[in-house]
Parts: sequence; structure tokens; C-alpha cells
Amino acid sequence: MREFSGILRGGGEALSKALLIFLVFVLRCGLSKVLDLPPENLIKSISAVPVSKKRRVADFQLSIASVTEDSSSDCLAPGLHLQAQKLAERLKCDAVVSEISAGPGTVNFTINRELLAKTVLQQVLKDGSEYGVKSELFSTVPKQKAVIEFSSPNIAKKFHIGHLRSTIVGNFIANLKVALGHEVIRMNYLGDWGMQFGLLGVGFQLFGNKEKLKTSPLQHLFEVYVQINKAAEDENTKKLAKDFFRKLEEHDEQTLSLWKQFRDFSIDEYIRIYKRLGVHFDEYSGESFYQEKSKEVLKMLENKGLLQKTIKGTGIVDLSEKKDLSSFSTVMRSDGTSLYITRDLAAAIDRMNKHNCDSMIYVTGKSQSNHFQHLFQILKLMGYDWVERCQHVSFGLVQGMKTRRGEVIFLEDVLNEVRSRMLQNMASAKTTKEIEDPMETAEKVGLAALIIQDFQGLLSSDYQFSWDRALQSRGDTGVFLQYTHARLHSLEQMHGNEQLTHINVACLQEPDAISVLQHLLRYDEVLYRSSQDLQPKHIVSYLLTLSHLAAVAHKTLPVKGSTPELAQARLCLFQAARSVLANGMKLLGITPVTQM
Ligand code: ARG
Repeated sequence: MREFSGILRGGGEALSKALLIFLVFVLRCGLSKVLDLPPENLIKSISAVPVSKKRRVADFQLSIASVTEDSSSDCLAPGLHLQAQKLAERLKCDAVVSEISAGPGTVNFTINRELLAKTVLQQVLKDGSEYGVKSELFSTVPKQKAVIEFSSPNIAKKFHIGHLRSTIVGNFIANLKVALGHEVIRMNYLGDWGMQFGLLGVGFQLFGNKEKLKTSPLQHLFEVYVQINKAAEDENTKKLAKDFFRKLEEHDEQTLSLWKQFRDFSIDEYIRIYKRLGVHFDEYSGESFYQEKSKEVLKMLENKGLLQKTIKGTGIVDLSEKKDLSSFSTVMRSDGTSLYITRDLAAAIDRMNKHNCDSMIYVTGKSQSNHFQHLFQILKLMGYDWVERCQHVSFGLVQGMKTRRGEVIFLEDVLNEVRSRMLQNMASAKTTKEIEDPMETAEKVGLAALIIQDFQGLLSSDYQFSWDRALQSRGDTGVFLQYTHARLHSLEQMHGNEQLTHINVACLQEPDAISVLQHLLRYDEVLYRSSQDLQPKHIVSYLLTLSHLAAVAHKTLPVKGSTPELAQARLCLFQAARSVLANGMKLLGITPVTQM
């Protein structure tokens, strides 16, 4: 373990200088000079202390274990504690740092209260929607281009909860990356090919209606598909479906034109519904695009000696280490046609050629983990090194989502259900009357409820869906976030925005004000964590805490009835809290409401 006395060349003096411009990112870099460590190493070592129920001991803490070379956790305790004490003793307080103390393995810094208020508020209000993302934490992260594939429903089939989860998770990842300055291609890879289109084609000839296809394509195609599936028991229908699909594969003009109508009308409706969710795509791709290209993939696999034929005539790729077929993937049917994975191979190669991106992300349920593992393994065997930059972001199962009418079949069912439930809640809370557009407000609040329920845990965990839990107005829910935002907004409406230059920060010294300020200070770290593991839960719990702290402060630090000086300072504090709350909510895919 490195001795701190050796690292601390500048002594207390230099550290204080670093703290002089104390914002956390500056602090990190300054300390890095004192400690003779690259700033990246300090990113994780120094952090704003989380605000919990109990008040915080300090504003920032430096973790000794993470700046020393030997930082395995089992060597924590006596050695590190002593180091922390030694370091704390050597550092002196000054105009910026008002208190330095040692904790178990940490050195804690408390910043001069007025400076804390001034600097945090200045930064939040100046940076606006860029607060946090401009942090030094991200300065060493190169700007990259990512293709993010998400949602990807199957035409004529159910849009199940897994598709909804993929939609909101993918949207969140895309929002976060864009906010951090990366280039993002949002891609929807539709299930728009395969035998089901043979059946659908025949079904449409029997039960279809062109008018209904135009007005409500998703519903109509689904109904036709259900009907024809019942009828498909008989051999004749099966044969007709096979013929239809064969014609489709041979690009027969009439057949293709009907299929194209199914696809185009469906996309139009998807776009309309995604808009209600606040989601858009840059590209609607789909399995159909890769019918021809999968043939090329099979040729490539053959040329590389990777394609093996089984006795049954199917084509497989051996994925086992010992080449004993203990693990393999089937890439070709016995009639020579391609499979889901073959189309994905072609799609991945095409995506990389077309977009030349730094990363490719697929967002689906964990039931497809095996599929993506195989996909990446085959690409690797084919010699595509960029497969290292492909990632499957998977999520767990959601159980028990039902609407009053029964099973969820369409995305729109969920949106309508959450809106009507929320409207009902608002009506019983008697707030609806004064709202300009209650339907729209109910929808935005309801969506926040769904998103927060979904994002609260690790994405990989399964959870039991509950309308009641999601829609509670108190506690850790999206409704509570929206409510807090609306309240803070109406405060501004009532009293007007405050210019920071006009306020006296000495008025913000109550513990409840300090807690809000300390919490605002941590926003960049939370963004950083989510950007590293792509888990929204860090941001969710941050925003919930922010809302709780703001709610408490709103109660104990009234604006109305206070002296003008006090009122102005408090308004400024609430304005900053609302700004960060709104930023975070937008990243999660929530549209903050201004009244409810
Ligand atoms: N359409 C698929 C399904 O509903 C999801 C597609 C996932 N993406 C992919 N490239 N395979 O299960």
C-alpha cells in the first residue's frame, strides 16, 4: 500500500487550493495533482456524500481504499482508517473547506455553507438542461456513435409487456447517451417476415377488409391472424399459407404488395402510438430486410468452413471449444431457408457496414440471452472483431399486467388503461377540474407511474406488476415525482423566477435547504453510474430522494409570508431543484407536467 505521506507532496495547503474552486469535478482534478494520481482514478474515489434520512456528516468524501494501489476490500479497516486519520490531520481548513474529518477509510470535507449554496445554484441555473452532463466526470469519455435497437414488435402478433419494457428501456439508454453528447441511431427491428405472413396473407384473403386495414391495422391484422390460426388446422389452409409465403420469398409482385401494405399501415400506427409514449425511431428496419442477405451469410459461413450439415439436412455452426458439438446453433432449415438468428447475423453485419458505429446495443428480455450469446459467438468465429462492441441489454419478466378488459394485446391498451385509471384518481382527488387538459395530464402522470415502477429495481430482476402500487400518489412513485414537479412549477408561476445575482445565499442555511443543495451536487455522479451500467435505477432513486427533500423543504421553508430576501433565496433553491428534477425525468422518458 502506498504511503499517503509520499503521495501528499503539496500538503494541506495544496489540497485547500484545489478545494478553492470546489465544485466536485474541479476538486477531483485538483486532488489528483496533490495525490499524484490521474484524474480518472479519482473519479470513483471522491464523491459527494449521499443524503439519506439522517443528515450527512460532510459534503464530499475521499475514499482511501480507492486511491491506494492495494485497494482490495479485505484490507480495509485498521490500515486505511489510520491513513485517513493521518491525511485528515495534515489538511487544514480554510475559507472554502470549513471542516475536515476522518471516517472509516474516508476523509470527509465540509464546504463553507454560503459557498456551497452559491456555487451549486449558479451551476444548476447556468447549465440548465446540461447541468451534470457538463461535469468533468465525462470529459475523459470519448464521444461515440451507438446503434440502439429496441421495442421491435412482431406485426400481427401481440405487443406484450416485454415489448413495452424494451421500448422504455431502449428509449432511456438512447436519451442518456444523447444527453451525454453521443450520436445515437434509434432502431426498431420489426418482426415482419416468416411463415406467419403466409398465414396472414391467406387469412386476409378470407377475412380481411381493406378499410379496416387502413383505419386500425394493428387490431385488424391481429384479428385476422387469430382467425386464420384457428382455420389453419386443415391441410388445405396450411398448403395455401405455404404457397403464399413461397411467393413472397420469390418476390411475386401482387403478394409482395399486400405484404407491404400490412407493414406500411402497421408502421404508421406504431409511429402514432409511440408518440403518445414520447418515443421515436430513426430507422424502421426488420427481419424482411435480411431475407436475401441471410443467403449471403450462409455462403460466407460455408466458405469459412463454419457451416456443418446434420443428417436431417439442417445447417449448424459448432460453438463448442473442443469442437465436439456440445454447443451449437442452427442457422439453416433443411429446405435451405434462413432462421431468426441467420437474419440477425445479416442484420448485424449490415448495421456495422452502414453505420460504422462504436457500439451496437440490443434491448430484449432475458429469455433471448442465449440467442444473443450465439449471435455474438458466430460473429466472432466469422472474424468480426467489432462484436466486442455489441451488447445485449436484457431485462427480467413482468408478471400480471392486465387491463380491466383482460389481457394486454396492444400497446395502446396499456396507454388507455393507465390514462383512465389516473383520470379516475385525479377526479377523486378533485384536482381535475382546474386542469386545462386533464386527459393529457393523466396520460403523462400515468406513464411516469409505469416507468418508475419498471425502473426502480435492477433491469434483470423480475417483478409483479401492480396498477395500485404504481399509481399511488405518495411514496416512491412516478405520480409523486410528477406531483412534486407540478408543485415546484406552480411556485414559480405564483412568485416568478429569481435571478441568482439578486439573492442572498446566507438565507439558505437551514438544514433542509442544505440537504437539497448537497443532493443537487451529486447529480453528475448519478448520471455517471447510469451511463456505466445502463441501469436507470440510480437516476430513479436520486430523483425520488430529491423530491422527498424538496417536499420537506417546501413545508419548512415557506416562500409565501417570508421577508422578500428570504423568499427570493428560497425560490431560487426550489427553481434549481425543479430544473434538475425535470432533467432527470426527461432522461427516463417522462414528460414533466406543470399542473395536476
Ligand atoms: N421481434 C422480436 C420479438 O418480439 C425481438 C427482436 C429483437 N431483436 C433482434 N435483433 N433479434 O421477440
